Amino acid sequence: MTNSLPHGGTLIDLWEPTYDTGKIKNSVEIDAIALSDLELIGTGAYSPIKGFFTKRDYEAVVKTMRLSSGHVWSIPITLPLSESSAKTLTIGEEVKLTHEGETYGVLTVSDIFTPDKTLEATLVYQTDDEKHPGVKNLYERGNVYAGGEIKLVKRIERSLFHAHYLDPVETREAFAAKGWKTVVGFQTRNPVHRAHEYIQKTALEIVDGLFLNPLVGATKSDDIPADVRMESYKVLLEKYYPENRVSLAVFPAAMRYAGPREAIFHAMVRKNYGCTHFIVGRDHAGVGDYYGTYDAQKIFGNFNADELGITLLFFEHSFYCKACGNMASAKTCPHDKEDHVILSGTKVREMLRNGEIPPATFSRKEVIEVLIEGLKKNEVFN
Ligand code: ADX
Repeated sequence: MTNSLPHGGTLIDLWEPTYDTGKIKNSVEIDAIALSDLELIGTGAYSPIKGFFTKRDYEAVVKTMRLSSGHVWSIPITLPLSESSAKTLTIGEEVKLTHEGETYGVLTVSDIFTPDKTLEATLVYQTDDEKHPGVKNLYERGNVYAGGEIKLVKRIERSLFHAHYLDPVETREAFAAKGWKTVVGFQTRNPVHRAHEYIQKTALEIVDGLFLNPLVGATKSDDIPADVRMESYKVLLEKYYPENRVSLAVFPAAMRYAGPREAIFHAMVRKNYGCTHFIVGRDHAGVGDYYGTYDAQKIFGNFNADELGITLLFFEHSFYCKACGNMASAKTCPHDKEDHVILSGTKVREMLRNGEIPPATFSRKEVIEVLIEGLKKNEVFN
């Protein structure tokens, strides 16, 4: 086994496929973000969380980055409902949680409350600007939150990359089977370019295995679609990584774009998947100019090593340096900016759209080929 204990000490398991939902009269329809959260709570990816937040946990997390139990937690896991839907609920009752008519879970309602969304936006996202994609989502979702413990009764059916959906219990087994004692988790919502590869491989020099764990839940519309990314990860791993040092599985959560707060959340979840280490590079989970380049690293300074329970590996902004002739960062390269190959995601998409191939110093050619092919079929490209 790896040396990593789940957050809170025990992996939560709320999977109850045989639970009799027939006796439950009331049901509420939940959105896609809540559905992904329901599943991740049920499988223990969000341990020690056992349900959607009650007001107590919600306020504690929003204001203090801790659950009311004291455990570190930075993103509220909420079940937003419309006012009319919330009115049908009674404290203490069980309700079915449905999505597009299918029942996926059961909630024992223990709280119904109206959040202060402006405060949530300001403290969690550090902005109440509705142009921020996470804040936009927050404001668009229901205005009343229902809290309480859940049961997961049905899994989401997936036709794409089925083999790469692994629960924490399975990733832990997989790491153990490989004999890995130390595992570094890597979050991404992008294709893996040379800078990502560099920081992953730098980490791989000191740990046993890399857990490449791309987020494939809801992302903003101009991010590269998950199916295209998955193909690009596979070809990259096949050509450039030793097979026995990498494990690829998806993280089916929605992207919040909450920068520093989301970095903590990402680290705690990867700890639950069995990682002992987690990479945080530049502007982790950031968007636009809302966060400082290294804010997502600095925020970990609010906690001590024991309560985090996972070792953070912080990386400086990395790039290919033409003068060095290799990948580097300001920590290792003495040359000027002119020698550095730095392209933004937006710039790369623009190049691909115009039929320009980004340089091999920015991205492996096999990755670019997959992206061009994949994006041609996708509206992001057009
Ligand atoms: S995100 O999920 O954090 O939004 P992204 O794919 O942009 O995804 O980044 C994945 C990880 O790589 C993050 O930890 C990020 O900080 C880091 N990262 C991305 N690009 C660089 C870079 N050029 N140098 C250093 N770290 C980077």
